[in-house]
Amino acid sequence: MKAIVFDTPGDAHQLHLADVAEPAPAAPDVLLHIAATALNRADLLQREGRYPVPEGASPILGLEVAGTVLEVGPEAKGFEVGDNVCALVNGGGYAQQIAVDYRMLLKLPERLSFTKAAAIPEAFLTAFQALHWIGRVQSGDTVLIHAGASGVGTAAIQLAKLAGALPVVTASGHKHERLFELGAAICIDYHQRDFAEAVLDFTEGKGVDIVLDFVGGPYLNKNLACCATDARIVSLAALGGARVADFSMAPFLRKRIQLTGTTMRSRSDHYRQQLTADFRDKIWPHFADGTLAPVVDTIYDWEQVGDAHRYMASNANVGKIVMTIGIVDP
Ligand SMILES: NC(=O)c1ccc[n+]([C@@H]2O[C@H](COP(=O)([O-])OP(=O)(O)OC[C@H]3O[C@@H](n4cnc5c(N)ncnc54)[C@H](OP(=O)(O)O)[C@@H]3O)[C@@H](O)[C@H]2O)c1
Repeated sequence: MKAIVFDTPGDAHQLHLADVAEPAPAAPDVLLHIAATALNRADLLQREGRYPVPEGASPILGLEVAGTVLEVGPEAKGFEVGDNVCALVNGGGYAQQIAVDYRMLLKLPERLSFTKAAAIPEAFLTAFQALHWIGRVQSGDTVLIHAGASGVGTAAIQLAKLAGALPVVTASGHKHERLFELGAAICIDYHQRDFAEAVLDFTEGKGVDIVLDFVGGPYLNKNLACCATDARIVSLAALGGARVADFSMAPFLRKRIQLTGTTMRSRSDHYRQQLTADFRDKIWPHFADGTLAPVVDTIYDWEQVGDAHRYMASNANVGKIVMTIGIVDP
């Protein structure tokens, strides 16, 4: 089969199509023909040699797929050849086929296209985990979502709203209109205004109950400053750098703030399967009834993978960047 590979870590122009070995499904796996995948920042880091492939994971890029079941393993339950599905995968998405444990699969409702479905798993499962499993979101909570226009951010805004929480968002100003449409209560242009001050103004000094942070070091002190008592900060990335200058424990202790770091890829298969099961149960039906929809910014053919990576690196997107692989939606 064909897959996108790179011979040495580096720029996006390294990426090219090549013949690779076909996947060898285990007994609980289904073999999928991949119709579409979506980009994640981790793909860019891995391509640059800055994201070591976890043990046992495919070295092929791509953390989410949508496609059609080609074969069903003897221990795989609930799926048939021809089913259309999507899944979070631990690498291997930039390829024509992939073997996926059946417990990771989400069956597509009738009206959900492959290109939309490919944009769901990583963004929505990450946001679901951060908001519900780690952040313990409750109706009435105020949630600060940084990088609100990112794939994960656009998912988090929708999930926060669905949970009855109030999404407070930071993003570049020209992206705000779309984020209000998704349900943001307030959008803060962090280029123009100190976000902590804006959050405290908006919450009349109380602060927020949950922070989903992707920016890291430069934001930690400000996040602490605009947290309410007993707030939860979920740290998902360090887009702005990992070092923290002038850190003070005082607000952290006084406000009893909980700070949790997490990466999806370092989680065990069992954890990801449990998370998917909970998501399938609580969230997945909302894609069929139209309450939730992935935000797809751009769709590339996989032969344009270099352009797709450069586009993501430019920070221009609102929502997900999808790549089609062979099958185009009807
Ligand atoms: N921990 C996990 O389990 C996990 C899982 C999935 C993704 N992630 C991480 O979550 C982040 C978002 O992922 P994604 O794929 O959804 O990203 P994305 O769609 O590429 O969006 C990233 C957005 O972040 C904003 N941004 C970039 N650098 C920034 C900075 N220094 N300060 C403030 N905002 C900045 C930009 O929007 P503006 O124009 O608004 O600045 C940019 O468009 C990535 O860092 C990714 O690695 C973590």
